[in-house]
Amino acid sequence: MISLKGQDVSEDAGNLDPLHRAVYRKTGMDLHPYKEKFLRRRVAVRLRATGCENVARYVAYLESDEEELDKLLLCLTIHVSSFFRNPSTFRAVEEKVFPDLFAGPPSRPVRLWSVGCARGEEPYSLAILISEYLGEDLRGRNVRIEAIDIDEKILEEAKGGGFRKSQLKELDPSLEKKYFVKNASYRIVPGIRKMVKFHRLDILMDPPAGEYDFILCRNLLIYIERKPQEQIVEHFSRVLRPGGFLALGRTEVLVGPAREAFEVVDARERIYRKAG
Ligand SMILES: C[S@@+](CC[C@H](N)C(=O)[O-])C[C@H]1O[C@@H](n2cnc3c(N)ncnc32)[C@H](O)[C@@H]1O
Repeated sequence: MISLKGQDVSEDAGNLDPLHRAVYRKTGMDLHPYKEKFLRRRVAVRLRATGCENVARYVAYLESDEEELDKLLLCLTIHVSSFFRNPSTFRAVEEKVFPDLFAGPPSRPVRLWSVGCARGEEPYSLAILISEYLGEDLRGRNVRIEAIDIDEKILEEAKGGGFRKSQLKELDPSLEKKYFVKNASYRIVPGIRKMVKFHRLDILMDPPAGEYDFILCRNLLIYIERKPQEQIVEHFSRVLRPGGFLALGRTEVLVGPAREAFEVVDARERIYRKAG
């Protein structure tokens, strides 16, 4: 039975297997690594919106309505974010990660990676933080922030760099003035926009390549089952250079055997360093 007031699609609404198959066939996206409770909660939203009383009927609806797939995917990949979300994490990154990250000669490339970047609020916040930290010295530096997300559409918005006022709520007004141009929306200035390169990647399906000095991954692992979380942490330990940093923020923890590769830099903000 679907709870109309509540948040869940109960077990009685049916097995999720037909939905798994339909989504995989249509998009190549495997939903199995996501927590069942999370999936049922999100699918319940689409069942209510479409008036389907169980998962089987919803899958039939999905097959018959071209626009429903996009609506479902949007619902499954929650994009809540904001500039400098949970500011204490950014403060800790500035204090405990940046001094080491930028200690080398200016010619040394510094590679940062924002995983599950939503509309770009997080990687652009990093870029602003770096710009404030380095000041004029940023000019001679080779800094690149790569930002990935599973959702192609959201990445197009991120590349555009236009934001609503509500997405800037944690931002200091002086930074808003300095880094945004206000027209119909708040558009991030080109100098910051150019520091971030966006591309689509499913962190669960596509093994990442590259070598990074700093990885920021927040509010993504919470939606995923333990085993695939461990797999992601393993990916991170592989693509971080020795001595590189990983920040998960306050909601997530480091899990699995790969955590042995890390030492704790900040226990509250869950910032770790790969053993050198
Ligand atoms: C809640 S947002 C977090 C945004 C930002 N990191 C923050 O903390 O404010 C989670 C993001 O992870 C993305 N995501 C979900 N599954 C993913 C996957 N398998 N690979 C890459 N990104 C994924 C979603 O599309 C969404 O934009």
